[in-house]
Amino acid sequence: MNVNDVSFERERPDVYGDAHPKALLRVIQEDGDFLVKLANQHIVSGDQFDQDTMKQLFRLAAKIESNPKRFSSPLQNKILISAFYEPSTRTRLSFESAWHRLGGDIMSITDRSTTGIAKGECLADVAEMFNNYGDCVVLRDNNESSLYEMMDALRIPIINAGNGVDEHPTQALSDMYAIFKWRPELIDPVNNSKIRIGVIGVPNKMRTVRSFLKCLSVFPHAVEELVIIHDEASANDLFGAGQREELEARGINISTSTELDDVLPQLDVVYINAISWEGDTFNTYGSAFHLTANSPLKDDAIILHPLARGEELSTDLDHTAHNWYFSQARGAVFLRMALLTCMVERAERVIDVV
Ligand code: CP
Repeated sequence: MNVNDVSFERERPDVYGDAHPKALLRVIQEDGDFLVKLANQHIVSGDQFDQDTMKQLFRLAAKIESNPKRFSSPLQNKILISAFYEPSTRTRLSFESAWHRLGGDIMSITDRSTTGIAKGECLADVAEMFNNYGDCVVLRDNNESSLYEMMDALRIPIINAGNGVDEHPTQALSDMYAIFKWRPELIDPVNNSKIRIGVIGVPNKMRTVRSFLKCLSVFPHAVEELVIIHDEASANDLFGAGQREELEARGINISTSTELDDVLPQLDVVYINAISWEGDTFNTYGSAFHLTANSPLKDDAIILHPLARGEELSTDLDHTAHNWYFSQARGAVFLRMALLTCMVERAERVIDVV
């Protein structure tokens, strides 16, 4: 073994996609009432967030990201039940990292067959037990309805961390947090600042895209145009019933295209995703679409990807200024820290902490 090969750099690589959160913090006035209200909600869908609540969450996330050491104890004596019945790298670990960083304790279930569910126990009974053991539940389940079956029996909050092809709301909040850190002026309509966003994906099949579009449409003033880029095979199944109409009714101007390289030079943000977890496995869409360092991107365009990536996103982009997907994933820890603190009635411990 060559001992020269074992050293590593603790510093993060040069900050591609790592805008300083203080710029976002400065443009949002604190209003803690919107955060306090989150204590009485489960987190199920991107639909439940209005503009004011999202802005306050982004502000709190930026405050925590600006000075994380100040927020090491708000969740002391609180227990998270982390139940992930479908594979996850980012969501499970970032939720657990967020909870640990806030000083809380965690019980983690990564396989439903280790619980009474394997013996036929119903989810309502499991939820009733969770009421006694923890203060908050984060659930990922490939069955869309499990979340709702548990919600009815829960007296502690539950967060949807991905339910089949339906939704992944905290991913979408993290996506929006990344966009507003990149361009803080977009958050306020008075700035009349707009961007053109391309989504390479299938809104009807991908929970990340579905939730992202819901959250994006809360800020229609920031969107010049939303272009959905898809392959011919997805053309007839691109949107679910009423999905496109709902986004348009909120003021989003939508177009579609099958020609990625024709559209890329006009886009400020490129959101790409190729996989969708459907049933017990995942499917891949748009295999003809690849983003690489040679793609005709605008010089200042950013790329977002919920990850995990496949061949659609070349690693040669990782060391370019287009790479905001790593910042997006990193920022999710702070966004989740903000949300979790509010949900377990500890908002008063972080509001006005500067
Ligand atoms: N973005 C996301 O949901 O990633 P994981 O599947 O790794 O949690």
